[in-house]
Amino acid sequence: MATIKAVTFNKYTTPNGFVLADLPKPTIERPEDVLIKVYAASINPVDIKRAFGILRIFDPENRQSERQGLTDNYDRFPARIGYDLAGVIESVGDDADGLNVGDEVFVRLAEDERGAFQEYVVASSKTVALKPKNLTFEEAASLPLATLTTLQALLAVEGGLQNKTVFVTSGLSGTGSAACQLAKNVFGASKVITTVSTSKVSRVAALLGEGVVDEVIDYKTRNPGKVIPKGSVDVVYDTVAEALSYLHLVKPGGWIISVICLPSGQNLKSLFPNIPAWFCSFLDIAFKISKYRASRYKVNYDSIVLVPRKEQLLDLKQWAEEGKLKPVVGKVVPFSDFEGVKKAFTEIYEAKGVTGKTVIKVVE
Ligand SMILES: NC(=O)c1ccc[n+]([C@@H]2O[C@H](COP(=O)([O-])OP(=O)(O)OC[C@H]3O[C@@H](n4cnc5c(N)ncnc54)[C@H](OP(=O)(O)O)[C@@H]3O)[C@@H](O)[C@H]2O)c1
Repeated sequence: MATIKAVTFNKYTTPNGFVLADLPKPTIERPEDVLIKVYAASINPVDIKRAFGILRIFDPENRQSERQGLTDNYDRFPARIGYDLAGVIESVGDDADGLNVGDEVFVRLAEDERGAFQEYVVASSKTVALKPKNLTFEEAASLPLATLTTLQALLAVEGGLQNKTVFVTSGLSGTGSAACQLAKNVFGASKVITTVSTSKVSRVAALLGEGVVDEVIDYKTRNPGKVIPKGSVDVVYDTVAEALSYLHLVKPGGWIISVICLPSGQNLKSLFPNIPAWFCSFLDIAFKISKYRASRYKVNYDSIVLVPRKEQLLDLKQWAEEGKLKPVVGKVVPFSDFEGVKKAFTEIYEAKGVTGKTVIKVVE
């Protein structure tokens, strides 16, 4: 039996417990499937949250089987992680949605396909898109999850961003770097304000493009809540769970959209039908409290969870090819350096000091 190398974990763990395992090479099972040789895969914070077991609450069967010491449906051990990759199609099913052997592609894998940090992956052609022609595999792999989430968050702002002032937290994070660029280059925001740590202030223009960000705030030395004039911002895009501390900055009728604060239970249940009812109710109450606090400032509030869509991945491809979206890849680690791979995951786990996206180069 052919085998592949894969980053796995045998119990819920921090990245220190990750294992480089030999797994059976995946094979096409559905007509719409494609087999992709993975060239590069990018790390997202959710990969580490998943490995840590935070998301196991989403599946009651999982919790029951865990109590019984069994493997489970949600994270079958050895479990795999990773949603974002770019690679080359090696074979296709009978109904592969226009994709062909040899195509260079990128994808945000579906929940049941996850496992980007491995040599081969089978994914539905309904989620896989042709890679932007002008990007390397590393750059393309850095985009899907963080940029699609950002796109969906910005699209959730009723009335759009045209001629608006947008405040994006963490402008050189995965989500923040996408938000600054999409807000200015795609949605026509007139002013983009962002925060970064001290050593990154001078790098913003070079990494995101001249004129993308109008005001950079070093959040280590200045409090954005005090520096930005009250009532001067139309939209806050929150990536660091500070949404509600910026309410006073937002104009009446403006928006705060978070991708890190708890979403509503109803929203999450539509994506993860097995979450327990009590957890769903808890989330709904917490969400309503946040919305109520925002409404006292006449501000709209939402917190969203990504729903991957191939047509939006194709939008990213177009914007990348038009130069409106530049991937920010801060670090590339070879797959063969497994200690380096674990260290890279640990840096994302600690959520401090990383620039842009960290990518694992699978084909060296
Ligand atoms: N809802 C969804 O579907 C969804 C999708 C994607 C991501 N997320 C979540 O959104 C969050 C951000 O994701 P990401 O991919 O952008 O993370 P990331 O690329 O790993 O960004 C983390 C970076 O943010 C900077 N940072 C930390 N605290 C900050 C602060 N208070 N102000 C400004 N910058 C700060 C840090 O750099 P410095 O230390 O140099 O400042 C850090 O390196 C994560 O919690 C992730 O799980 C949710």
